[in-house]
This record gives sequence, C-alpha cells and structure tokens, in this order.
Amino acid sequence: AKITFITSANETITLEGTEGSVMALAVENGVRGIDGDCGGVCSCATCHVHVAPDDMDKTGVASEIESDMLELDDNADEYSRLCCQLEISDALDGVVLTVAK
Ligand code: FES
Repeated sequence: AKITFITSANETITLEGTEGSVMALAVENGVRGIDGDCGGVCSCATCHVHVAPDDMDKTGVASEIESDMLELDDNADEYSRLCCQLEISDALDGVVLTVAK
C-alpha cells in the first residue's frame, strides 16, 4: 500500500509498505516527527498522525486504549490516530497522514 506522510516541515513523503505497522514504516524511512518511542505498544503517542478527513474510512477509528492515550495529547482531534496501531494492508492504499506536532 502507498502511504503518504506530510511532515511539520511540509515535506510530502510517499512510502510503499506491505506489512507491519505504519509507525515502523515511517521510522525505518526516517519520517520526521514519527519517533515510535514505545516500540508500538500504544503508550507514548510519539507516532501521532492526523488522517486526512476523506481517508477515515481507510483507517477506521481508534480502539479504546488508543483513544485514552490520544486524550492526553493536546493536539489530538477527531482525525487523530496513533500510527503504530495502523496495520499496513491494501485497505490503507492512498492514505494521507499529517504528522502531528
Ligand atoms: Fe508509541 Fe505508537 S509508537 S504509541
């Protein structure tokens, strides 16, 4: 699946991934602002992204644990996801994610 990131420096980076989490793909490719400090267990929020509104049907909504974590983040909004919780699959193809501040 092709996944596009827009960083806070306004770079647009499109990556192709086949498996694993979106966070891991971003970290492996040095996407600025995606740190993945907790290793993908939904407890750090350093992988916070805002999904493009039109792409919410691709990602689905956050789980309860993920929502609880996002509530602690002042920059979270209704399009927020922790991208370690986004599993790469064909369903995600074409998704656009803005890296959260
Ligand atoms: Fe820590 Fe996603 S990598 S919450």
